[in-house]
Amino acid sequence: MNAPQTFPIAETYAAMGLGKSPVTVESMTSPAYFEVEKKAVFGLSWLLVGRESDIPAIGDYFVKRIDPWNTSLIISRAKDKKIYAFHDVCTHRGMHVIGSEQTGNRKAFTCGAHGWVFGLDGKLVDVTDRPSFYELDENKLGLIAVAVDIWEGFIFVRRDAQAGESLKEFLGEVYSGYEGYFDDSFFHKVDQYVGDIHMNYKFWLDSSVEAYHAGVVHIQNNTGQNAKSGTVLSLAASAICLYKRHRKVGIPVGVGARELAPCEALAAKYGGPITSYDPRLQARSIPPALNANSDTNWAFDILEIYPNTIMFLSKAMYAVIMLWPISVDRCRIAVDVYMPEPENAAERVALEYGLVSLRDVMREDLNIAEGSTDALTAGAIKEVYFSDQEIAVRHSYAVVDHAVKEYLAKQA
Ligand code: FES
Ligand SMILES: [Fe+2]
Repeated sequence: MNAPQTFPIAETYAAMGLGKSPVTVESMTSPAYFEVEKKAVFGLSWLLVGRESDIPAIGDYFVKRIDPWNTSLIISRAKDKKIYAFHDVCTHRGMHVIGSEQTGNRKAFTCGAHGWVFGLDGKLVDVTDRPSFYELDENKLGLIAVAVDIWEGFIFVRRDAQAGESLKEFLGEVYSGYEGYFDDSFFHKVDQYVGDIHMNYKFWLDSSVEAYHAGVVHIQNNTGQNAKSGTVLSLAASAICLYKRHRKVGIPVGVGARELAPCEALAAKYGGPITSYDPRLQARSIPPALNANSDTNWAFDILEIYPNTIMFLSKAMYAVIMLWPISVDRCRIAVDVYMPEPENAAERVALEYGLVSLRDVMREDLNIAEGSTDALTAGAIKEVYFSDQEIAVRHSYAVVDHAVKEYLAKQA
């Protein structure tokens, strides 16, 4: 006899009106829906583009392609030490000032077409052959700024520099509680991954906030280190936090046991950076937002910042995944991984092991995401089912759909 259905997590969040019904695949497969999403979701949101420590010195800059905005941004640290962000579009005749994703240090930005020069703060400072122009007001011809603000050392941009929510309002419940965690003197960027993936960008958000798949998809690797085939890794209702737009899930360590490969055993024995149980890390306190329930079985938190950022946050490391959709079935990804610097050769082995384990986890999730993209686009099924354990995925679709409907209602 089947066990009676229980929905403890859905009951916790009943007031959000997420429902329990199957969800239509339209938002996962429809090019028309994606076109609205670009404006309704990405066009109105603050988007994380990097970290202040990526550009620590005056003149440091990077160029970031923001595909959902169909633009590239120059993000720079100017002489006043503040960070600025502009469209990479010259105000003379609209050519790219720089023109490709890159990072570097410059005294100014000189357009590659006719040589107009813009300061690190975007102001127009020199016009080639100035006397030949009929009407020019240099004060109005600086690079076109977007809004930029900082949260815990992360640089966020919003398309409209004049109107919209502040970053603090946008982050809402997430804004407080992480003070001191992303300490640049403790965590250093140790690796970066980039890729062009055949998937709807939401599919990676999906697999990050449910553990239902972990005992199957990740059975062979580090996160499944303690998993047995068929084991269901369940999330406690208290480990799931659904906010107005964002969401957070506390992931427990696995259950069961498997034999470690020799390199894994070495890494586990000496490897501070790869586990939460290293003495160096035990001494480090974590801020209140992490493992908010003080769960003794806690491994790490997943924090999803709407609409396109995933953070893996543990005592030992953090990773930031940025999803940049190009179309309904294609997404560029950028992953930055931060860990403490290894202090000896054994910790270096452990760090490398941690990195390849994370890489394998990500590849496994992306493999599923690419498969889903193909399978759902084929159109054989029209809706998908989410269990109580997958309520954070349901929440993700509901938040996007709400933004899309609200946008369309305003246009009508
Ligand atoms: S388009 Fe930049 S100087 Fe002409
Ligand atoms: Fe996964």
